[in-house]
Amino acid sequence: MSKSTSSAPSLAGKVALITGGSTGIGLAAALLFQREGAHVIITGQNADNLAAARAALGEQALVLKADSRIVADHARVADEIRTRFGGLDVAFLNAGVARFAPIEAGDEAFYEDMMATNVKGVVFGVQALSPLLRAGASVIVTTSVVDSKGVPNAAIYSATKGAVAALVRSLAVELAPRGIRVNSLSPGPIDTPIYGKLGLPADAVAGFQASMTAQVPLRRFGTGDEVAQAALFLAGPGAAYVTGIELPVDGGLGIA
Ligand SMILES: NC(=O)c1ccc[n+]([C@@H]2O[C@H](COP(=O)([O-])OP(=O)(O)OC[C@H]3O[C@@H](n4cnc5c(N)ncnc54)[C@H](OP(=O)(O)O)[C@@H]3O)[C@@H](O)[C@H]2O)c1
Repeated sequence: MSKSTSSAPSLAGKVALITGGSTGIGLAAALLFQREGAHVIITGQNADNLAAARAALGEQALVLKADSRIVADHARVADEIRTRFGGLDVAFLNAGVARFAPIEAGDEAFYEDMMATNVKGVVFGVQALSPLLRAGASVIVTTSVVDSKGVPNAAIYSATKGAVAALVRSLAVELAPRGIRVNSLSPGPIDTPIYGKLGLPADAVAGFQASMTAQVPLRRFGTGDEVAQAALFLAGPGAAYVTGIELPVDGGLGIA
């Protein structure tokens, strides 16, 4: 009799939230986590993107409209998860925005919006979800290669990612007594819709992408799925003794 060579899904029966799960890296992770047996919850704010994600994920996914800048939205998401599932095994705090501009051009609204989405969203997301996290749970935060590598026009964005990278290290120590692991995932240039939202003219975006490609040792952009695979590692049992790290998924850009 032939023996099956396929291994058990690594997230079988686990409950996994992916914030910013409607497009890009988050949607790739939601699809992968679902294939690996997880009950998936995603958040996002744009109704059209959420509808497209719903179509991709199917009825079994819980799709929630929630703005990561709004503290009450985190409480609502946590309440919904508590009611439906009673607890949470994976919290992938991935929602984020990147806007690029010279330092002289970034006004207060530019700063406030990125800080609110990328930093406040993670702080109050973890705060709301913490009571739901089961022993053995994994918290993953998306940072960026720009938190350790200088990139022109990305100073404020870099500052938001540096802030959450530091947050992760303290949270890892604070939540370790409960058996909860906290890690960050640091993508390099990944081909997602984010490049259409940088706030730069199309030719400047194209120039930036070409310059990034030339600097990446692997000489290409990564894919959302390649980042999702790293998130799956951090989420699953293979990373049971891994906490407080920042895992680069950047084609080597961070060390180039
Ligand atoms: N792509 C890259 O090269 C790269 C590199 C380094 C780090 N990252 C980081 O990776 C993460 C995912 O980015 P991505 O590249 O996959 O970009 P993306 O396709 O633009 O995805 C961003 C996700 O975040 C959600 N989001 C944005 N603002 C939100 C808010 N206020 N409330 C709730 N959800 C919000 C978006 O939902 P809506 O559509 O509803 O707004 C979307 O689901 C971000 O944290 C980004 O900073 C990306």
